[in-house]
Amino acid sequence: MSDYIDLHSHAVPAVDDGVKTLEDSVALLRGLGGLGFAKVVTTPHIRTAMFPNTASGLRAAFATLEGQVAELSGLPELGLGAEHYFDDVVLRLLSEGEGLAYPGEHCALVELPPQRFPLGLERYFFQLRVRGLRPVLAHPERYTPLFKSTDDLDPLLDAGALPLLDLMSLVGRYGRLPRRAAERMLEEGVYYGAASDAHRPGDVEEVGEGIERLRRLVGDEQVRELLHDGPRNILAGSIDD
Ligand SMILES: [Fe+2]
Repeated sequence: MSDYIDLHSHAVPAVDDGVKTLEDSVALLRGLGGLGFAKVVTTPHIRTAMFPNTASGLRAAFATLEGQVAELSGLPELGLGAEHYFDDVVLRLLSEGEGLAYPGEHCALVELPPQRFPLGLERYFFQLRVRGLRPVLAHPERYTPLFKSTDDLDPLLDAGALPLLDLMSLVGRYGRLPRRAAERMLEEGVYYGAASDAHRPGDVEEVGEGIERLRRLVGDEQVRELLHDGPRNILAGSIDD
């Protein structure tokens, strides 16, 4: 039995572009459990205008979900965070404690605009860290500035960012360039963890293929580091500098 921990998914019904119904939520969680995820910390979007969720609204929706699945057996243990889209509004929320950090309140998941990194990003990450919150960076391989080289990630790593691979990138879900970037960054040892970013039950198959591809690329030991040790440390706040 695997004890993987998934730190990026959209399994709260009808709050973002993830699952729409309780049935789909259960099917997605069951599917992730079947792949070896013993724990799923699901991360609905908080994004200005597009997904204007609040921490309290998401907590309430998550509590409802937890209540509805409490009697079901065979599901992974659940937790709640959020995927914070980088802009001034959302990041002010985070630094004022109004975002939705991962359980443990040591780290928070941040997504960047895909085409170009905002100016002063590393300064912002650093400030977040000074406030005791470490940024976990969603799917770096899917950002245009990192397709050809990892150089632009270095200042963010220096500022404490923890990169999280999207497993579906490895099987071409987002195209050839993100797949190649993911393979390169795996070789470079850039990732701190890996996650599903699953939005619906139909994603489970590709996430499973991503895990198998990951295993072929880096071997069993690193699969465990990326799918268990790294995520566990993020939740525990036990991260070496
Ligand atoms: Fe996501």
